[in-house]
Order: sequence, then structure tokens, then C-alpha cells
Amino acid sequence: MRAFVAVDLPEGLRREAAALQARFRSAGADVKWVEPENLHLTLKFLGSIEETQVSPLTERLKAAAGSLSSFTLRLEGIGAFPRTTDPRVIWVGVSEGKEKLAELASAVEQTCAELGFPKEERPFSPHLTIGRIRSRDHPAGLIKKLQVAEFCGETPAPVNQVILYQSTLSPQGPLYTPLAQIPLG
Ligand code: 2AM
Repeated sequence: MRAFVAVDLPEGLRREAAALQARFRSAGADVKWVEPENLHLTLKFLGSIEETQVSPLTERLKAAAGSLSSFTLRLEGIGAFPRTTDPRVIWVGVSEGKEKLAELASAVEQTCAELGFPKEERPFSPHLTIGRIRSRDHPAGLIKKLQVAEFCGETPAPVNQVILYQSTLSPQGPLYTPLAQIPLG
């Protein structure tokens, strides 16, 4: 199964992100906007794992996450990968809680590495993906909006767990099923 470890978006932030998506929908670009219930902050993409790996992974992640404390997250900033003038992924940034999130991602990365998962080569870049470009037709309106967009989230929200998700891909979009909920200490 395809799996990843993520922070589920707290409800208040989900609403903020959905409102932001609405602001960009009118730009006319061919974007697959992430369903609000699917919004998450990826800590580690595991790729394909065996069912027998779920239990040891969960146990090790519980030990690692248990030694880190809960924290507050606030969203701020909007941009695109690889760059706003050539958007493929549209993201929202994190202000408050950024260091804590990076610390958590590093602990998850380390735990997964100890279980044999290859380490991510790129540095962790905290972001919330809100849309993925389907085709690169008609990007002008979107690029223009991205270049002038400002966003400062008003809702601080608590993060007190990470989730090991199974991702099932289908033509209707991905289905994310929680395999384990892992509390922070
Ligand atoms: P991102 O788009 O938020 O950065 C579940 O598929 C999550 O895992 C996605 O939200 C994506 O994170 C991340 N992901 C998917 N495929 C990936 C890959 N090949 N390498 C790294 N991360 C990936």
C-alpha cells in the first residue's frame, strides 16, 4: 500500500485554506483543488509499504512523537512550486509552529530511516498543498493572482497528533485512510 505520515489540518485552518482556494478558483487555470477533508501537512512520504510494516512503524513513531510536545500552528503566505511564474503545486505556508513542525518532521524522518526507509534528500519545506496544476493551459490569470496574493492566517490551531495514512489513488482523486493516530507527548 502507498503510505505517508502527515499532520491532519485542524478544523479552523481547514476553513481558512478552503476560503483561500475559493479566491483562486476564478483564475481560470486547470487546477485540481485538494478536497478540504484531504488537506494535510506531509511530514514523510513513504511510498509503497507492506502491511506487516504498519505495526512496527506505528510503535516506533509513537515512541518518537511521544517525546515531542503539542504545539500551535498558524498559516501564512501562499506560493507555488517550483515557482510562482511556473506553478505546478500551489501551497500555503506556515508561520507560528514552523520550527516545531520541522522538528517533528525530522523525528519522523529519523524513525523511518531506522526502519530502512530512504531519507528524503531535499530539506523539509513546511507547506500545505492546496492545489495541483492539471494542465499548463491558461496559467496567466493564476500566475498574476499568485504574484500579488497575500495571506495571513488568523486562526492559531493546536497540533497534538500525527497520522499514518494509506493513500489509495483513483480517477476520482486520492482517498486517504488513517492507519494509525500517533499522539504527541
Ligand atoms: P505534498 O504534495 O503535500 O508535498 C500524499 O500523497 C502526500 O505525499 C502528498 O500530499 C504529497 O505531499 C506527498 N507525496 C506524494 N508523492 C510524493 C513523492 N513521490 N515524493 C515525496 N512526496 C510525495
